[in-house]
Parts: sequence; structure tokens; C-alpha cells
Amino acid sequence: MTEVQTKALAGIREQFPVLEREMRGKPLIYLDNGATSLKPKRVIDAELGYYRTNSTNIHRGVYELSEAATEQYDSARAAVAGFVNAANPQEIIFTRGTTESINLVGYSWGRTFLEAGDEIVTTELEHHSNLVVWQEVANATGAALRFLPLRDDSSGLADGAVEATIGEKTKLVAITGMSNVTGYMPPLADIIARAHAVGAVVLVDGAQLVAHHPVDVQALDIDFLAWSGHKMCGPSGIGALYAKESLLERMPPFHYGGDMIERVWADRATYAPLPEKFEAGTPNIAGAIGMGEAVRFLESVGLDRIADHEHDLIAYTLEHARRHSDLTVYGGTGSASRGGIFSFNLGDVHSHDVGMILDSAGIAVRAGFHCAQPLMRRFGIPGTVRASYYLYNTREEIDALFTAFDRVREIFG
Ligand code: ALA
Repeated sequence: MTEVQTKALAGIREQFPVLEREMRGKPLIYLDNGATSLKPKRVIDAELGYYRTNSTNIHRGVYELSEAATEQYDSARAAVAGFVNAANPQEIIFTRGTTESINLVGYSWGRTFLEAGDEIVTTELEHHSNLVVWQEVANATGAALRFLPLRDDSSGLADGAVEATIGEKTKLVAITGMSNVTGYMPPLADIIARAHAVGAVVLVDGAQLVAHHPVDVQALDIDFLAWSGHKMCGPSGIGALYAKESLLERMPPFHYGGDMIERVWADRATYAPLPEKFEAGTPNIAGAIGMGEAVRFLESVGLDRIADHEHDLIAYTLEHARRHSDLTVYGGTGSASRGGIFSFNLGDVHSHDVGMILDSAGIAVRAGFHCAQPLMRRFGIPGTVRASYYLYNTREEIDALFTAFDRVREIFG
């Protein structure tokens, strides 16, 4: 790393107050970004700023403060739309996060447009959020679930999987943009091209992807993209669904009540235009403003730069890992088609035990099945230890992770 890069990284780290704290009396090494990211000061200030200086509701007040809150909320939507290059802000629906975004598509699009004889294609790599929803939609509609075959080591899609599985009966392909367990990134462009060729739509679970890699929904021709604010330096309890306007126009609302209506009679109602049709009730105004600020922050750093940095960290990690014969790395040992996620087991020590020893060294990781039980079943294990990186992580932190493995060996060796 050059001196300029080291300075830039230090400048990024300074913006995250939590990085100044200790854990178990040691400087914090935060490697659990797959679960949630830390928040920079400007995002915290934006969210608090709304509560401190405004706090009013949107779309309702005929007074200055409410108009200002509405403007801030709308400007956050425009920022989020720009972040993924949506054609217009109405294609962004604010939700509570990835899970709610996928549920919105399942309940509204899935239950309306799927029927017996149709197929929903997904994978055994999915987070439960992008699997259980489709199990339920399949139960409710009679559609069948099909799975893209994986390589024997489950490190990615098997050769020819896309052509063999996505066919005339496929109506929806629901696939992760990046596995939250292994960091594997499926070939989205090929999958989307094949799905569209057979008339299917594609939902991308972007929970792990959007915060770390540039995503252009128009260039990729994505139909639905779901992601969360809290994994991209924004607040928790806020997320987004991108959907093509032509799809949203034909979909029924997901939630009913205030703010999503146009006219209401005692026995019926008509619904508001997009995006309000899908945002019933008072939304998470502060959260949306915080998510908008997170977008501005990430854009100021540059998504290409963030992706390159994480690629460097995962390549460095895998190189380290090759020197440790007692490490099992999941998702293959190469850094191509892979984000900054390192899932492993050390000898036959339980992942929770490894996690606890790392905790005592000030290192935060996730251990367990990572909301991906079918994938764990394929691996034949109860869980893994997962270190997941972000823009503020350093090679020195990875060195510390590998040094801490010696402590695990001492205790369990
Ligand atoms: N989905 C998050 C994770 O993978 C919580 O940790």
C-alpha cells in the first residue's frame, strides 16, 4: 500500500466513531460487516439532525417544517435511485430492509402473477430471506421451486446450470448478488439474459452486494433489487426495493392504510401513484434521510475504490490461509467472482468457540449458520466463522485475525 493509500484509509477510519472504542480491553477489530456496517459521523448527524431540528411528518403538513421534511425524504429517495442508476426515483420503494423488500415482491408480485405450472428458480446459496419467502409463495400459488445446481464444493454455480434450469416454465429467478456466507458472486448478467430470453423476471438479493460493488440496474437490466441501509453505512430499519416502473404499476399494494391511497369511500378505495402506493403509514423518515446520507458518503469515497480495496483484503486473506493446513475455507480458495467475505473453520473447533476466542482478542466476527441452513447442510457442518470486510478494514487487522488463531490452537490443540 502506498503512503497516499495509507493516509486515505486512515482518513476513512477517522470518520467512524465506533472504531475508536475498545472491545474486551483491546482495540476493536470489526470484521462483521456482513451482519451490519459501522456508521460514519455524517450519517449519525443526518439522522439526529432530523430529530433535533425538524421531527415533523412528511406529505401531510401545510407548514414549513413538514415541507422541509418531505423535501429531505424525497431527496434521500433521489440519492438512493441515483446510487443504483434507477431510471427515476419512483422506482425506489423505502422498506424496513432487504427482508421486507423481498416479502413485498413475494406478497404483491408473486401471489398475483404466479400459478401452478410456473417455476421459481433460486439456489441453495440463498440467505433464508430469499428462500423462505419463495417457499411460501410456492405453497400459496402452486408454483414449483427449482434450484440452480451448484459445483460439488458449493463454491458457485455448476457449469451449464443457468441454461439447464431456467426454461419456458420459469417465471421468476430469485438469486443473491453475493453470498453472505462465502462472498461468491453469481454471473448476474448471464442469468438475467437467460431469464429474460424465456420471459422471466429476476429478483437480485443485493444485501451483500450493493454496499460493496457498483450496481447499475439499467445496465444489468435487473427487474427487482432488494437491499438494506444498515449494511451500507446507513441506519437500521430502513432499506429499499428497486423495481421497474412497469412492474410496480401492475402490482397490487403490499400494505394498506394511510398515505398509500388516492380516494377512499366507505366500501372501497383507489391507490396513490408510485412510490406512495407501496409506502403505507408514516415511514422511517429519519432512517431514509440517514440512508440518503450514507449514499452520499459512499459516493464520495467511490464504489469502485471500495470494491478494489475489499478485493485486495480478500486476496491477502486467501494467500495467508494457504499457509495454514488446519484451516478449511468455504467457497473455494480463489478471489475471482468473490466479495470481501472469508468463511472458515479452524481444525474441528466449533465456530462459536473460535468466535469467543477472537472476541477476547477484540475481534468481532460472526459464527454459526449465517441464516443459510441449506448451504450448511451441503457443507455438512453446523456453521462457519465468518470475517467480512468493508472500506475501513486493513491488512493489519487480517494479520491480527491470523495471529489470534494461535490462541485457538493453544486452547483446543
Ligand atoms: N444477513 C446478515 C448476515 O449475513 C445478518 O450476517
